[in-house]
Amino acid sequence: MRLVDRYGRRITYLRVSVTDRCNLRCIYCGTDFQRLRHEDILRYEEIIRIIDLFVRLGIRKVRITGGEPLLRKNIGFFLKELSKIDGIEELAITTNGILLEDFIDQIKEAGIRRINISLDTLRPERYREITGRDEFYKVLNGIYKAKEKGFDPIKINVVLLKGINEDEIMDFVDLSIKEPFCIRFIEYMPTFDSNRDFFISGRDVKRMIQERFKLIEVKEKDSLYPGPAIYYRVEGAKGKIGFIDAISSHFCSRCNRIRLTADGNLVPCLFSSKKIDIKNPMRSGAKDEDLIELILKAVKEKPSSHMGDFIKDSMYMIGG
Ligand code: 5AD
Repeated sequence: MRLVDRYGRRITYLRVSVTDRCNLRCIYCGTDFQRLRHEDILRYEEIIRIIDLFVRLGIRKVRITGGEPLLRKNIGFFLKELSKIDGIEELAITTNGILLEDFIDQIKEAGIRRINISLDTLRPERYREITGRDEFYKVLNGIYKAKEKGFDPIKINVVLLKGINEDEIMDFVDLSIKEPFCIRFIEYMPTFDSNRDFFISGRDVKRMIQERFKLIEVKEKDSLYPGPAIYYRVEGAKGKIGFIDAISSHFCSRCNRIRLTADGNLVPCLFSSKKIDIKNPMRSGAKDEDLIELILKAVKEKPSSHMGDFIKDSMYMIGG
């Protein structure tokens, strides 16, 4: 079956947040830290059941996110169970990298090859300022461990923040030249509790880079179900750079995704406040057909575009 929304977009990509917990406190993430109660978080078997239904409906790519997904107990077991689901063609994970070294073997054993790591600075002191924690070298070690173990692609997500890390753009470009990493500059997206103007447009960043380097556009061939990034390579570089211009460029028309939160809500769009509760119906004994109805409803709720909106929930809750 194919999941197609009201605007003809084929929905093939499910992002699953497995926990709201995080071991960082980044300046741009929510400040209203309210932990979910244990009983409100979906159990692994519940998540697997929902993913299974999604796959039956045409989802082909699943990304595990958080909070920080590697903080969830027995995550290795869960990833292995996931890898047994027939029909998932791409299984991926997004992590802040702190626990990557510890889990890299389990991630690999589960058949995951695609890792995205969030890292907004290459300077240890600044890492502490942005994230509130002194874990820079653990993340770096995690990244190189992933490289050593043959993960490909290794994507590094950099949220550029005005007045904070914009002076590191060229350092990140250098990293993409020397290492086979894909450095992705992500536009800061305003959230409901944003109290600072961090925004820098991806177009300006690209222009700055082009003053120094010749950029060659490269088509993302490695994913059948790609996200919104546009990729370039500096001539002769081992890696790539990418731009995710969530605010300034409208890639909504190409949106292929839907989200499941740790507390069992389906989220049609990162920018909409709509959520469809799937946990409570499931726990009151809903049959597969009933749950499929809820999934179809969530897909129907996808707006045509987010049109300069802001994010209504903290990112650690929705899963970035
Ligand atoms: N704007 C853009 N990206 C965000 N993320 C979290 N909050 C924001 C925001 N306001 C995403 C980024 C980051 C990860 C932790 O979540 O990808 O690397």
